[in-house]
Amino acid sequence: MLPFDSLISATQLTPEIISDIIATTDNMATNIQQQGRIDLLDDKVVALLFFEPSSRTMMSFQSAAQRLKAGMVFAQSASATSIEKGESLEDTIRMVESYSDIIVMRHPRPGSAAIAAGTSKVPFINAGDGGNEHPTQALIDAYTIAKHKGRLDNLRVVFGFDSLQSRSIHSLSTLLAQYPNNHFTFTGPAELNPSTDMLNELKSKGAQCEIVPEVNLSDGYDIVYVNRLQEERFNEPALFEANRRKYRLTQDKVSGTDCLILDPLPRIDEIDTAVDCLPNALYFKQASYGVPVRMALLSMLLGKAI
Ligand code: NCD
Repeated sequence: MLPFDSLISATQLTPEIISDIIATTDNMATNIQQQGRIDLLDDKVVALLFFEPSSRTMMSFQSAAQRLKAGMVFAQSASATSIEKGESLEDTIRMVESYSDIIVMRHPRPGSAAIAAGTSKVPFINAGDGGNEHPTQALIDAYTIAKHKGRLDNLRVVFGFDSLQSRSIHSLSTLLAQYPNNHFTFTGPAELNPSTDMLNELKSKGAQCEIVPEVNLSDGYDIVYVNRLQEERFNEPALFEANRRKYRLTQDKVSGTDCLILDPLPRIDEIDTAVDCLPNALYFKQASYGVPVRMALLSMLLGKAI
């Protein structure tokens, strides 16, 4: 079980909690294989509020709820709800909490998850709040690294190419910074380097951090974690256009290395499709772990985990 009702930020995820979630995720993966669906949440209703576009996060939460036999209520865009008429986020949550037992929300505004969780009387999961955080993606990433590297410490991780605006990079680096001897190399356009606040936060947790304009991936890195330039978060579209194709993993940069290649997806320009056939290209496998990880989270937050 979890020591909190709502998951808003990766800062809540201690190594002990992460290992509990990984163990429960393993149970869920076995259950998917053996039974397909289990009667764990058949008396519960999950609310899915997606006020920003989503494919993997929304569908893997849907699939997780279906496999746990929970009922669901949805809002798939702000324009399909009374938010379009000017209703506040707080009032929306006050209504949805009475229709459901747990709320999952994605919202374009950084900080909206904390506001919604503070309002909600039922457990709440942040499925991405603007460019701020994406803690459930960080758990999927941690699960992938634990499965395929066997550890979450002593890692040399490259992060690119939009560490400033990628909520997935923010949450994963926050999660990994708590483990001993992790070293982060941030790379990408200079304008998209991590903020000083972010770097100070990671260093204060014990991570070693550096920023470099280019990396040679055969220099003994364990993981290269890339995310597309976050087009919708650019104030200057010209900056996005000038950089979108400059930073790209190609076969020659990654083949023959032991580096696990991860990406929360969607893939836009940051990985050449020729990389997909390499044994260390794990991004689609990583996306598949979304279902058992989210089954674990839903059932643990509702006090019903196996
Ligand atoms: C990410 C997101 O929404 O932040 N995708 C995801 O949830 N798997 C990454 C992105 O949109 O670039």
